[in-house]
Amino acid sequence: MSDPQTQAPEANKPAAELPPARILGIETSCDETAAAVVENGRLMLSNVIASQVDLHARYGGIFPEVASREHVRVIYPVIDQALQDAHLDLAEIDAIAVTRGPGLPGSLVVGVNAAKGLALGGNKPLVGVNHLEAHIYSAWISEQSATGQARSNAAGKPTKPPKLPLVALIVSGGHTELVLITDHLKYMRLGGTLDDAAGEAFDKVARLLGLNYPGGPHIQMAAVGGEDHAYEFPRAWLRDSWDFSFSGLKTAVLRTVRSLEAETPAGGLRMRTVADLAASFQQAVVDVLTVKTVKAAEAFGGKAILVAGGVSANQALRKAIQSKAPCPVHLPPLSLCTDNAAMVAAAGYFRFALGQRDGLDIDVLPTWPLSEL
Ligand code: KG4
Ligand code: ZN
Repeated sequence: MSDPQTQAPEANKPAAELPPARILGIETSCDETAAAVVENGRLMLSNVIASQVDLHARYGGIFPEVASREHVRVIYPVIDQALQDAHLDLAEIDAIAVTRGPGLPGSLVVGVNAAKGLALGGNKPLVGVNHLEAHIYSAWISEQSATGQARSNAAGKPTKPPKLPLVALIVSGGHTELVLITDHLKYMRLGGTLDDAAGEAFDKVARLLGLNYPGGPHIQMAAVGGEDHAYEFPRAWLRDSWDFSFSGLKTAVLRTVRSLEAETPAGGLRMRTVADLAASFQQAVVDVLTVKTVKAAEAFGGKAILVAGGVSANQALRKAIQSKAPCPVHLPPLSLCTDNAAMVAAAGYFRFALGQRDGLDIDVLPTWPLSEL
C-alpha cells in the first residue's frame, strides 16, 4: 500500500538469498495477546499466547473494550516471557514485527504502541504486518524449535517450505479469503465471503445449537458421532466466481432448529440431534471450502495449497482438503491455526529481509485488506 511512513520491501529477491534474522512478533488484533520469537521465518524459538477466551465466553462473543483493557494488562509480561523462553535479550533481536490490522482498533493499538516503545527504546527496526498475511506465513513455521512444538513429517525431518505459486485459503473468525500467492509478499485476491466469514458461521451456528463460544471447536466436538448428511443443508456454490456465502446456510440451520424445537416443546434439542445438526452444518462448510480451493489450485496452476486461520484447525476440513488436493497441502500445526505472534514474526521476517522498515509514526489499519499490500 502507499503509506508514506513505510519503506516498501524489495520485489522478487529469491528467498534463498535472504539474510538471517531473529524477529520478535507481537499480535493483539483480536482477543489473544501474543508475542513470539522466530528465526529466519521458520524456526520458532518461543511462542507465548495469553488467551482471553474465558473472559469473552460469557458474552457469547468478543467485547471490544474488555479485550483492549486485557491487552494493556498483559502485553509486557507476555513479551518478557517470549524473550525469556527464547533465551534472548531484546538486544539480540534484529527487528520487531507487529500486526497493524485488520482487527479491532482498540486491540491493535495496544500491540502497535508496545512495538513502537520497544523499537524506540531498543533502537530496533519496526515492521508492520497484515494479520491475514501473518496467517499465511504460519504455514512456513515448520522447523524444530528449542521451546516451541516440533513439527516434522513422518520421517522425522523438518517439513519443506511451501512452493510458489500457491493457492491459499484463509478462514478465520473475521475473514474467508481465497488468494493466489505468486511470490513472497505478492498476493492476487481470487475471492472471499460475501457475508459471514467461515469462523463467524461456526460461532453463530454454535450459539443456535446452545454450544459455547468460540463455536468452531465446540461444533467439531459435537459433530463427533453425528451423521454428516442427517440434514441436507444448502451449499452456496456461486458458480463462475471464487466467492463464498454462508448466511443462507446459517438461516437454514436456524429454520431447522426452530422447527425441531417446535416439535419438542418440553425441552431443548436432544444431544443426538445436536450432533447430527453440527455434523451436517460442518460438512456443508467443508464441502464448499474444499471444492473451491481445489478448483482454484487447478485453474491457476498452484504448486501447493495452503490453509490457514482459526478454521484451518477443523479436522474435517484438514482431512477433506488433503484427500482431494492435486498438490501438496500445507496446514499450520494446530497451535498456530488460531491467532498467535509466531506467524507475525514469520511474515515480519520476509518483510524485514526484503527491506521493509516502518517509521515510529505508523498507525493501526483496522480494515486493511490483503489486496492493498
Ligand atoms: O484466526 P482466529 O483465531 O481469529 C481471527 O483472526 O478471526 O480464528 C478464530 C475462529 C473462530 O471463529 C473459531 O470458531 C474458529 O476460528 N475455529 C474453528 C476451529 N477452531 C477455531 N472453526 C472450526 N473448527 C475448529 N476446530
Ligand atoms: Zn486471525
